Amino acid sequence: MVEAMKTFSRLALLTATVLLAAGPASSQPPAQTAAAQTAPTQTASAPLGSGMVAAANPQAVEAGLKVLRDGGSAIDAAIAVQAVLGLVEPQSSGLGGGAFLTYYDAKTREVTAYDGRETAPAAATPDLFLGPDGKPLPFVEAVRSGRSTGAPGVVAMLALAHRDHGVRPWNSLFDEAERLARDGFVVGQRLAAYSGANAAGARGAPAPDVAAYLGQVKTGERLKNPAYAQTVRRIADEGARAFYEGEIAQAIAARVAQGPNPGALTAADIAGYQPQKGPALCRPYRVYIVCAPSAPSGGPGVMIALGMLETTDIAAHGPTQAQGWYLFAEASRLMYADRDRYIGDPAFVAVPLAGLLDPAYLKSRAALIGARSEPRTPGLPMGVPARAPDATAEVPGTSHFVIVDKAGDAVSMTTTVEGPFGSGRMVEGFVLNNQLTDFSLNPRDETGALVANAPAPGKRPRSSMAPLIVLDRQGRFVAAIGSPGGNAILAYNLKTVVGLLDWKLPIDQAVALPNLVARGPNTAAEVSKFPPKVVEDLAAKGIILRPGAGEDSGLHAIAVRNGRLTGAADPRREGIASAP
Ligand code: DON
Repeated sequence: MVEAMKTFSRLALLTATVLLAAGPASSQPPAQTAAAQTAPTQTASAPLGSGMVAAANPQAVEAGLKVLRDGGSAIDAAIAVQAVLGLVEPQSSGLGGGAFLTYYDAKTREVTAYDGRETAPAAATPDLFLGPDGKPLPFVEAVRSGRSTGAPGVVAMLALAHRDHGVRPWNSLFDEAERLARDGFVVGQRLAAYSGANAAGARGAPAPDVAAYLGQVKTGERLKNPAYAQTVRRIADEGARAFYEGEIAQAIAARVAQGPNPGALTAADIAGYQPQKGPALCRPYRVYIVCAPSAPSGGPGVMIALGMLETTDIAAHGPTQAQGWYLFAEASRLMYADRDRYIGDPAFVAVPLAGLLDPAYLKSRAALIGARSEPRTPGLPMGVPARAPDATAEVPGTSHFVIVDKAGDAVSMTTTVEGPFGSGRMVEGFVLNNQLTDFSLNPRDETGALVANAPAPGKRPRSSMAPLIVLDRQGRFVAAIGSPGGNAILAYNLKTVVGLLDWKLPIDQAVALPNLVARGPNTAAEVSKFPPKVVEDLAAKGIILRPGAGEDSGLHAIAVRNGRLTGAADPRREGIASAP
């Protein structure tokens, strides 16, 4: 059975590759083709206890499966998957980036959140992204700079998780990444679309390091990255410290210090990086429990929206009914208003989390949903500090993967260099993040008050990433879900949770549901995927669905259904789900 599924996975991958071939690069990831939009979600099914991996690239999935076959844990496999993703999908995530990881321990039924978010350098000020005229730099200039790079967090975070839950030796987990980097990996369509003449397409600004590395590559060609092979071998043999201290850290700091717009990140900032861990933020939702990392991640946003939806009858209005999508859209809009206003790094700003998640507050917010869509302003939850309106810009370049091991432990990890190829700068075979542009470029409002997400030394920028783990009320694993997509991550994850838990869809169908992102006055959506009657009825209620940026998810999920593990890879991207 598992063998049959593997064969199916490969076939599905081939089909997806053919269907997706030759999308043009632009400031957004390659556009979805009509074929891709109708492609079925790639799925896998296997008995509980067999383990499973779903990720954005088949070579990364295979690396994770190898580790699981060798008796490795979900965390061991996550390290192998990330090491390969950084090679085969450098536009999305890598060693020079950051991540959030939600971990389920099947034995204790505890859920832990690991935070590998980048931190701002010691020399950062709220004015990090202001130009000489005191105005925010144009966004692309801010991204393609040294200023945008924070101290990378993903390697340290994975090392911490490995100390807690690793079974295989750390130095065995990078073999596949090293081999692929040395001998050549297969270039996927999304990477190929950014090569050659299109190199500037990623953000509409040149990324000379990336252009020099990629040259002109075609989908299916092999590409080598000997510097990456060397880097992962050093991290494997010498441990994470090899990344944070010594030559690699010095190379990062030196590249960041170059113009245009040099940054202040030093080797000492990198050496001082500390990943965080703690109990995940878990909230009941109907007969389930939904868990995610807390602020500054997107976790609280998902919980706010679910808390509102729980007071509605959305479960009675399935995905073919306008009312279901109406409630979804309006709860999303209310959530974004609060989340944009109040969420920042809790180590630096007072985040009124208890107030935002208070059931009475959420009920009062949900009660604002009337017969017609309305513009939304943030509410006033308990403990609310004076807080200026947010002005954070967010755009596409991230990856989400999920793993379940034989023991039933699960990993849900969203990982990112922020935008496509991060800052566009590379050292030692990997890309440097531009995560600091996840801060509000304009740190103050017109009265001079600092916004929650203003830059500060050592601070973590706000994130939308929200790797979810869903349990039943007995604490048994139900699902692991997550997506890239900038601030739309919240809507993508929410849609999948509602599809799975309220509309009772199999996970692959929940992933395939049309995306709808209601934030501020706009509602971006995959319009052609909705029944025309739903589009019409939503318009009658004041919601005009518009196609456009912000609906290109990359959901990967594993759920338990009928006593089996079912994995799903978003048809909008090129990943697969597969069992060992
Ligand atoms: O942490 C965040 O919210 C962003 N850096 C994520 C960016 C992203 O998801 C781009 N995705 N396609």
